[in-house]
Parts: sequence; C-alpha cells; structure tokens
Amino acid sequence: MASTSTQSHESFVQFGKKHVTAGLGRVVDAVLTKGEGSYVTLGDGRKMLDFTCGIGVTNLGHCHPKISKAAADQCMKVVHVQCSIAFNQPYLELIERLLPMMPHPSLDSFFFWNSGSEGVEAGIKMARAFTGRQNIINMQGAYHGRTMGAMAVTKSKTIYSAGFHPLMPGAYTLPFPYWHQLGVDPSTPPSELSEMCLSQLNLLLAQASAPKDTAAIIIEPVLGEGGYVPAPPEFLHVGKSKGLTPAIAYLHGLREICDKHGIMLIIDEVQCGFGRTGKNYYTEYSGVRPDILLSAKGLANGFPLSAVISRKELTDKLAAGSMGGTYAGNAVSCAAAVASADAMKEEKILDNVNARSTELFAALNALRTDADAAVARAVLDVRGKGLMVAVEFASPTGTGPYDRFADPAVPAKLASRVAARCVEKGMLILTTSVYEVVRFIPPLNVSKEDLAEGVRIFEEAVREVVKEGKA
Ligand SMILES: Cc1ncc(COP(=O)(O)O)c(C=O)c1O
Repeated sequence: MASTSTQSHESFVQFGKKHVTAGLGRVVDAVLTKGEGSYVTLGDGRKMLDFTCGIGVTNLGHCHPKISKAAADQCMKVVHVQCSIAFNQPYLELIERLLPMMPHPSLDSFFFWNSGSEGVEAGIKMARAFTGRQNIINMQGAYHGRTMGAMAVTKSKTIYSAGFHPLMPGAYTLPFPYWHQLGVDPSTPPSELSEMCLSQLNLLLAQASAPKDTAAIIIEPVLGEGGYVPAPPEFLHVGKSKGLTPAIAYLHGLREICDKHGIMLIIDEVQCGFGRTGKNYYTEYSGVRPDILLSAKGLANGFPLSAVISRKELTDKLAAGSMGGTYAGNAVSCAAAVASADAMKEEKILDNVNARSTELFAALNALRTDADAAVARAVLDVRGKGLMVAVEFASPTGTGPYDRFADPAVPAKLASRVAARCVEKGMLILTTSVYEVVRFIPPLNVSKEDLAEGVRIFEEAVREVVKEGKA
C-alpha cells in the first residue's frame, strides 16, 4: 500500500485494522501522528491530552527537545554497537548517571536490554544462576510481561496467558497486600494487610516451595496492571518501618525472609521507577535492598531500553555470553536515557511530581465526599504514589464472584465507560486490573494547568456516566 499525503486518515485506519494482528488491542482506532509534551495529535486532526504516556513511558513528555536531540545526535555518530563486540559510550555514561540514582548503594552492576519483559527474563535467569535454585515466587495481581518467563510470573489477568500454556514451571503465587484481592475492607490498615501476606509467604515456604528450591521472590512494589496498589514499606522491609505490630515484626518483611533463606529479591520497577512515584525509585520509601532491580519504560522516554541492575559480587558469577542480545543497550536508546536522567535533575522533575501529586490526590479524594451522593458512592478508593494514581469505582464488573465490594446501586463498568468518555472529551486515559479502576499516568513534568484540565475532563466524565446509570 503506497502512502501519499492525500491518503485519508480513515483509509489508513481501515488498512491497519485489516493487516495488523488482532492480538493487539487499542484505545483509539486512529493513527497517532505527533506528540508534543503532554499532548498528542491524531491523524484526523484531534489534539488530545495524554494521561497514558504510552503506558508510563514518555514520562518527560512527548519529544522532549533535549532527549530527541541527544538521540538524533547519537544517530549521526553510531547507532548500533553490539554489546558482545564493544562498549558503547552512552551506555557507560548512562551507568554513571544511574549509579547515584540507585535506591541502594550495593546496586553497582548493570546490563541493558530493550524491553521490560526482557529485563524480567534476565532477572529470573540471574536469580537461578546466583542461587542454583529454580522456583520463583510472584505476587497475585502482578504484571511482568508477555514473554514466556515473564508471562509465567504475571498474575494480573488471564488474557496474558490464556491459550498459551504450558507456562514456565516453578512459579508460585503469593497474595499481595491489597485489600480487594484479600476480600477485606478498604480501610484495613497496611500493617494488617502486610501481616496476612507475610504469614502466607512463610506458609508457602513451609508447604509448597522449600527455601532450598526457591531462587527468588519477584515483586512490583506498586502493582501496575493489578490496580496501582503500593506495597506498604513494612511488607518489603520490616527493619526500616516504625510502630509495627509485634506480629509483623515477628513475621519479618520480604527482605528479611529472603536474607534468612538466601533467596534473591527481584524488584520490578519497570512502571513505577525512574521518578514516577516521586522518588527516583519507589524502593527508596522502604529502604529495602533489592538483589536485582529492573527499570525500563520512562528510562529512555520512549526509546526501547531496560536495565537489569544487581551487585558485582553476584554478577561476577555469570559466564561471559550468558547475557546479551543483538540490540541490547542500543546506543541511541542509551543516549536518550542519559538525556532523560539529566533532564530529571535539571528540571527538578521530582519536585513537580510531588506538587502535582498533592493536587491530583486532593481533587480525586474530593469526589468521595461529592455533593452528588451518587458520585460519592461510586468512588470506592483513591490510591497510588506520586503520579501513579488510581481511582477504583464500586461498580460491578460483572466478571466474577471475587468482586465482593461491587455496589449494585453504582452503574456497571464505570471504569471503561469513564475512560471512553474521557477520550471523547479529548483525553487519553487507561483502565487497569480486573476491578473497576482508572489509572492516571500523566507526564512527570505535566503543568499545573494541564493537570487541572485532565482532572476537569475526568470529573465531567464521571458525573455524566454516573447520571446515565445502566450501561
Ligand atoms: C511492572 C512491569 N514489568 C514488566 C513490564 C513489561 O515491559 P515491556 O512491555 O516493556 O516488555 C511492564 C509493562 O507494562 C510492567 O509494567
């Protein structure tokens, strides 16, 4: 199909619908032709506020001038430096930038790959190599990717694995401290949720996966696809938490349990890392030491890049050639990531994340006590950290008996209906999880005005859909 400037947007969309695999879903049937800061333009001329950031990737806005320039400059020097042939300069510069951003000083050994899923695969392989054990404990509600190993530890929705079994063996699932999955009240204190799950972990190690067979525990410290649920710091690391119940101190956090049994703790910050939650890495909130830290998405602001980070004492055990990949740590992606790290610092991005986060939480929490009782009743929870924020509706999904908190008085399928209404009103926004959750992932440098506009669109959409009632 020849492309011409006169070809209509609609005919391109029809061509895409015919020839692009049905295995991909889409929020809008449109071609996204331009991105600038917090906005994107579609081929039919619509300009949209983008509160998806391409699922948490273009965190410093679309086509950030300094990042795009760094990538373009690198394109004129060298594009492909195969990692098994030589070092590439931006790769090493990126390590220099990342070292001071690490949530723990022990993290000093880096390997770059293309995608988050590949990073997860590398993390699993490394944990097995470091321990000589096989099993990987993962969290209910976690998303780690669509490749074979990553899919086996993904427990957010069956859509990712249905029809693709058998999965990698040796994956055991632990409940995550999220009240909804545990079937307890939303007001349950985080320490109680942690206690329940840590107790289950100790049982799992006694009943299902013996410590001597357990290579790693892999956790997204903020569940992404599972509904934007931050793990309480004491779940990760009792040592750094204050005022804990005696029970939790007795049970220990994930870090202490891993230390006791020689299990690797893999922390997947592919979505929540690199500034998204108001710190460079969410792990900082707990002070936990990851054995393996995974970062991707926002790292290169749209260029494919993931980082697998561990400590030299461990990675020195790896045989040369056991890690790698044709495109791993591409020079253009690394140059973009160096520019992203510099922009984070120069533009004081974390300050903006924390200021905008306070405004976003205030606006969304206000809906819980809205003058319109139907709107207030519809909002079950507002949660998250930094600019990784979710609203959960008390709306029946109609998908399962696990949904104990569904309120029959609240209109069904609110999350997807509200998200679709936001799109009609000029804002891209995503749902997440098996529950009724809308997630906010605006750019980390979103302006006060654009954030307010996004909130206005969302509120208007909620009011309209609640008023309409039944789907
Ligand atoms: C926490 C987490 N891990 C891993 C992945 C997989 O990353 P990718 O889609 O780049 O393979 C994702 C993607 O959404 C993610 O959110």
